[in-house]
Formats: sequence, structure tokens, C-alpha cells
Amino acid sequence: MIKKLIFALVVTAATYCVTAQNNGPSFTRGKQLYTDYCLTCHQDDGAGVPKLNPSLINSSFVSGDKKKIISWVLQGTTDKIEIDGKFYSNNMPAQNYLTDQQIADVLTFIRGSFGNKYSAISPADVKAIRAGIK
Ligand code: HEC
Repeated sequence: MIKKLIFALVVTAATYCVTAQNNGPSFTRGKQLYTDYCLTCHQDDGAGVPKLNPSLINSSFVSGDKKKIISWVLQGTTDKIEIDGKFYSNNMPAQNYLTDQQIADVLTFIRGSFGNKYSAISPADVKAIRAGIK
């Protein structure tokens, strides 16, 4: 009886941990933020537009170290930066008007969508990078 109870608790906790990353409130809010702030360029399926806006699927900027993707969204770029061997003619707007929570949410969504399976990003991660940029 006790063993069954412990087993049930462990299963519940494990399920929560998995869903907290891929289906949790941060992910759900991130999906809406993606629609509002990113979708016009990076598209519904995250695949971008050839030569114009890069794909967020299998991108070394999305998969890599959290600092790279966070500072990217905070700062944007008007330089033509090589992304996984290709160049894109559009500019990426700086989106530092979004809160730490909003940036964490949208990046958690991207890192857990379009076939990506990377860890969630927390508001504390964003806060630390933002402080380093100012
Ligand atoms: C106006 C169009 C536009 C919008 C809106 C936009 N991006 Fe971008 N994004 C770009 C372009 C263009 C680049 C590549 C810039 C370059 O080549 O120098 C880029 C690059 C990126 C990259 C790095 C390269 C890659 O494909 O992994 C990430 C990550 C990214 N954007 C995330 C976001 C997120 C998150 C949002 C919404 C909060 C967003 N972008 C909104 C146009 C946009």
C-alpha cells in the first residue's frame, strides 16, 4: 500500500517535471508571445523564410548556450551575421522591451517546439544576461 502510494507520487512528480518544460504555463504563454512578436518573420512552423529570416529549427543559436539566444533577442542585429552557413537580408529587431518573464516564456516555447528539445529558460537567466548588456 505504502509502496503503491510512493510509486504514484513519483510518477506524478516526474510527469509534472516533463510537462513543466514542454506544456507548462511558461510554454503556453510563450506560444502566444511567439505569435505576437516573432511569427511574422520566423513563421508558424519556425522554418523562417529562405534568404530573408532564418529558421529556428536545428539552429545553433537556439540549441546553443542560453546566453547566445537570450542576448540575441535583447539586442537584435542589423549586421548580416552568418547563421549555420547562410545569410539573411532582413534585420532582427531588438526586443528588450519584453520583460524577463516574457523573454523566458517565448524562448522556452521555441526551445521546446518545432522538433527542438532543449531545456527551458528562466526569468533569472534573462535577468542575468540583461544586466551584463547594459
Ligand atoms: C522583423 C523580423 C523578425 C522578427 C519580428 C523576429 N526576428 Fe528573429 N531574426 C530575424 C532575422 C532577419 C534574423 C537573422 C539576422 C541576421 O542574419 O543577421 C533573426 C535571427 C534570430 C535568431 C538567431 C538565428 C536563428 O535562426 O536561430 C533567433 C534565435 C531569433 N531570431 C529569435 C527571435 C524571437 C524569439 C523573436 C520574437 C521575440 C524574433 N526572433 C522576432 C528576423 C526577425
